[in-house]
Amino acid sequence: MTGIYSRIIGTGSYLPAKVLTNKDLAATVDTSDEWIQQRTGIRERHIAAENESSSDLAYQATQRALDMAGITADKLDLILVATTTPDMVFPSTACILQAKLGIKGMPAFDVQAVCSGFIYALSTADLYMRSGQYEHILVVGAEVYSRILDWEDRGTCVLFGDGAGAVVLKRSTEPGILASRLHADGSYASILSVPGTVSGGKVSGRPLLQMEGTAVFKFAVKVLEEVALEVLDAAGMQKSDVDWLIPHQANIRIIQSTAKKLGMSMERVITTVDRHANTSAASVPLALDEAVRDGRIRSGHHVLLEGVGGGFTWGAVLFKW
Ligand code: UT7
Repeated sequence: MTGIYSRIIGTGSYLPAKVLTNKDLAATVDTSDEWIQQRTGIRERHIAAENESSSDLAYQATQRALDMAGITADKLDLILVATTTPDMVFPSTACILQAKLGIKGMPAFDVQAVCSGFIYALSTADLYMRSGQYEHILVVGAEVYSRILDWEDRGTCVLFGDGAGAVVLKRSTEPGILASRLHADGSYASILSVPGTVSGGKVSGRPLLQMEGTAVFKFAVKVLEEVALEVLDAAGMQKSDVDWLIPHQANIRIIQSTAKKLGMSMERVITTVDRHANTSAASVPLALDEAVRDGRIRSGHHVLLEGVGGGFTWGAVLFKW
């Protein structure tokens, strides 16, 4: 402990204008609104316009987070962007975002941990902050999963959406982020992947998302409980001390099972999966921003954020608002 904390002083999010409902999907793939709602809780998702990339979504979310924080972009000392759908192979989406914000000089890099990406980036930012080197850090989760879906595979295309969420952290002597814990197990790589890349001027492999849904489901429920207990233990807190749980938004049944295992009623769980579907690294900051702006999360509340996704990766961050 350094006596230095990261406080979240601004949140922001952005969803592309186009909404794709389950009914819209049922017109093009063999599925139904009923099946999707029953198995996942998803009703609709947002889809980026052709000319919108992850950095565009990130830019809009960042402007809103900066506005709430009451600072201008030039005050940022570090920029982290969590994304699995970068604008290009390189430069990083964080560098592209930095240029769009009209600032330069401070370090900027991407964090690639799929649906746990925002949790990984937030934890990384917190540890940088505790080094005492920085005063303001921007952490963004931004994704355009619509670009990596096989729109003919009903087992996956109905599950995802596009969006971005951002937070601005400020160095403080008051908490702040209380604890974070991250994990990975690469031996589970094959159950959720986009097994393609660019090689010799061509796409090699299959650059579309593939998933063993049931295996992912079981893994997610198990590790989301474990890491929640671990981060609470690290902060010396009990399950009952948590005011709000914001888990990764992949499937309402995963969220309900996690809440049940943690003994939390669904009234204390923030959910956006019905309207956003799974936006990967953007899902947690999108839900956080919604709950901050509608007044559910209030000063002094303890909030537990959790992510799980491809890699496999998982993690949790506990903070005081
Ligand atoms: O960020 C982490 C990423 N992903 C996740 O967290 C997702 C985790 N997994 C899940 O959410 C669930 O496993 C799914 C929603 C993907 C699937 O739900 P399930 O209850 O495990 O269904 P299932 O895969 O066992 O499929 C049941 C049936 C199958 O038909 P048969 O073989 O029983 O005749 C599927 O072919 O449902 C069929 N099915 C569909 N039917 C209508 C699969 N997808 C669809 C669909 N519409 N979109």
